[in-house]
Amino acid sequence: MDPVLHPDPLDFDGYRFAELQHYENVSAARTSYTARNKESMAFGHSRHTCPGRILTAAEIKMFMAYLLINYDFHFTENQRSKGRPQSLPFETQYLPDQKTVVMMKKRTPKTVRFENSVLQGGKAG
Ligand code: HEM
Repeated sequence: MDPVLHPDPLDFDGYRFAELQHYENVSAARTSYTARNKESMAFGHSRHTCPGRILTAAEIKMFMAYLLINYDFHFTENQRSKGRPQSLPFETQYLPDQKTVVMMKKRTPKTVRFENSVLQGGKAG
């Protein structure tokens, strides 16, 4: 991210764009994951903007939610001693280091607590 457009671009701030929408009244068209403008070029801009971006965004959210609910993630001991892997800058984006090993372990027992209910094994219980 360009520091002129986005303050402290190297700091992770999961609410960066949500806060712009909620507290600074910047429209969703400029801040959503699928926004297409000169500050958000991941899906292209203008006439040939990716028409699959809305579908993709929904798929990525479902995929991420599934993984986070059902798996624990760890770096290897070696990686932990070195700290966070370096991101790979590519044009306006930062990509994950593709050589870094991330370990995944399925969570057991598969019990996930939500605000008012408990889901067990994927079924309401
Ligand atoms: C993370 C996933 C995706 C990324 C990052 C992505 C990104 C892009 C980008 C950068 C372009 C080029 C825009 C340009 O030429 O200026 C593009 C075009 C396009 N994308 Fe995607 N895309 C994704 C997923 C999809 C999906 C799931 C579909 C279909 C279901 C799709 C269909 C298309 C089509 C048809 C075009 C050509 C549009 C045109 O030339 O008018 N994309 N995409």
